[in-house]
Amino acid sequence: MGMFEGKKGLILGVANEASIAWAIASEIMAAGGVCGFSHLPDGDNRKKNSGRVKKCIEKHPNPELAKFVAPLDVQKDEDIAAFMSTAKDELGQLDFVLHSIAFATLDDLKNETIATSREGFKLAMDISAYSFLAVCNAAKDLLAPESAVLTMTYFGGEKCLPGYNVMGICKAALDASVKYAAYDLGPQGVRVNAISAGPLKTLASSAVGAKDMIWLYSQIAPLGRNITHDEVGRVGAFMLSPYSNGISGEILHVDGGYNIMGSPGRLLDKLAAAQPAT
Ligand SMILES: NC(=O)c1ccc[n+]([C@@H]2O[C@H](COP(=O)([O-])OP(=O)(O)OC[C@H]3O[C@@H](n4cnc5c(N)ncnc54)[C@H](O)[C@@H]3O)[C@@H](O)[C@H]2O)c1
Repeated sequence: MGMFEGKKGLILGVANEASIAWAIASEIMAAGGVCGFSHLPDGDNRKKNSGRVKKCIEKHPNPELAKFVAPLDVQKDEDIAAFMSTAKDELGQLDFVLHSIAFATLDDLKNETIATSREGFKLAMDISAYSFLAVCNAAKDLLAPESAVLTMTYFGGEKCLPGYNVMGICKAALDASVKYAAYDLGPQGVRVNAISAGPLKTLASSAVGAKDMIWLYSQIAPLGRNITHDEVGRVGAFMLSPYSNGISGEILHVDGGYNIMGSPGRLLDKLAAAQPAT
């Protein structure tokens, strides 16, 4: 029997097959979990959002475990309320909720962090940090005892990673939100955690220079390689399953150990070896 047999929950943030949310949802569905998916509302210039999510589901070996695909723009309270109402009708009580959503404009990401525009800062924080609290609050009454909420964060919220810029500030706010939400929802038995993933090629990460970071991780991380989508998918499923009961308020790094390094490690050895002898 799969570890999600009889479990139901929400997956917010699948854009396409490369999305971290899809890596986690695939694992959950493979283990028997029933999922309800969000997609960015289909507008004139983003007609294909629902189609892209449905395409991922169609290719999965257990497509029948996707109970619904519904629009959600987390900047709109009415969208969040409507999405939770669909979740209640289609799934009833929820055992897991994944929030895997972030956005900042390219202009703001390209700027030095101190040059972030006021509007760009508000937009990035609204979508990438505040939405997590709003989703937790809207899901509160649907969450079963011993259920789990998970969000996706990045090391750029803990340390300065040039290029990550305003998104680093959003992730710092998200990390703090995880702890406060874990406290708020703890009494009803709900666990709240985050995974801090190493860099992976996705739609969102192309805007924050993931390509260079992927190389850097392969040079500096203790494992000597970057992580894979499958690895994050499996840890995500674990964090949303009863196997992680007892873990709450945690930021779990799935990054090959990159975050423990206080120097470039073996990369430094390579650089030193390339220096002319003095
Ligand atoms: N890819 C990486 O290297 C990496 C590393 C660590 C953390 N993360 C985080 O993982 C999460 C998922 O990103 P991803 O890399 O899978 O990219 P992605 O582009 O596949 O996912 C981002 C999702 O956010 C959604 N979104 C954006 N604005 C929204 C809005 N207003 N309302 C609702 N949904 C909205 C998009 O539709 C998309 O599905 C993000 O929080 C990201 O910061 C990514």
